[in-house]
Amino acid sequence: MTRLEESKIKEHYHSDNLLQKIKDALQKAGKDLTRLELKDLAPVDQLHTGGALSSIELFRKAGFLPDEQVLDAGCGIGGSSRLLAKEFNCRVTGLDLSDLFIECAVFLTNCTGLEEKVRFQEGSVIDLPFEDHSFDAILCQHILMNIEDKAAAVKEFYRVLKPGGKLVLHEISQGLGQGICYPVPWASKASLSFLEPWEDLACIIQQAGFEKAFVSDESRKASLWWEKVKKASETHTQRPDSLGPGIVFGENAIFFGQNMAANFKNNTVCLIEALFKKGKDD
Ligand SMILES: C[S@@+](CC[C@H](N)C(=O)[O-])C[C@H]1O[C@@H](n2cnc3c(N)ncnc32)[C@H](O)[C@@H]1O
Repeated sequence: MTRLEESKIKEHYHSDNLLQKIKDALQKAGKDLTRLELKDLAPVDQLHTGGALSSIELFRKAGFLPDEQVLDAGCGIGGSSRLLAKEFNCRVTGLDLSDLFIECAVFLTNCTGLEEKVRFQEGSVIDLPFEDHSFDAILCQHILMNIEDKAAAVKEFYRVLKPGGKLVLHEISQGLGQGICYPVPWASKASLSFLEPWEDLACIIQQAGFEKAFVSDESRKASLWWEKVKKASETHTQRPDSLGPGIVFGENAIFFGQNMAANFKNNTVCLIEALFKKGKDD
């Protein structure tokens, strides 16, 4: 993936004055910025299918342990990094391409008092700014859809994991249906979306040296979740400045419910949860 392609992805996630917008929305919602709870942030910091509940279920299945060093690759504004620290007592490094997201992630983490356990760094998964064997686990949650050179990212994941380390995936892959409806959260148009059939992605991961521990197709559950988002957006219009995905994604967000519900219904996308492990001797 070239720097030019990365800058287009960065542009897709750009929102002017994002941190100030989040602060204003939290204050309007009556939240005390000096002591935020994770649930206060859930409407805005979970930039993936299923929200915090689906993340927690996956983290349990994947067996995250206290004090594990975890890389949250493509962490967004840090929702899952904070969940891993708070609920699983992990030590988390969140990495993201977007400097604006990293700024928000740092601020919100300080507001929740989790700064001792979570740190953030700007960077790309194609060229991870970490030493070999730095992490016990990597969370890769709704990010590979933005990565064209998946083999390069997976190779980097393998390099920075310790022997026996876990790669935990919560990803959208390409289904058998034709014609994705845009905009979707990761892409306003087709040129920003790099979906692959799951079998191809699994092959890339295994070719890098990972061993499969479990794979679960969660498309049915994801489809129901997006149907609920669609219904909610039909029954009440969310103000663009209220605490919700519109703050991060702008006007595109009003189309996500209907488009993602259609994409799952037409089987143009699938949702996969998976755990892979690096060999103990590697
Ligand atoms: C759909 S959001 C998901 C964010 C977060 N994982 C979550 O689930 O809340 C995708 C994220 O991947 C990040 N991203 C895209 N390409 C990246 C890259 N090459 N390196 C690091 N982060 C990247 C984006 O900036 C964005 O924050």
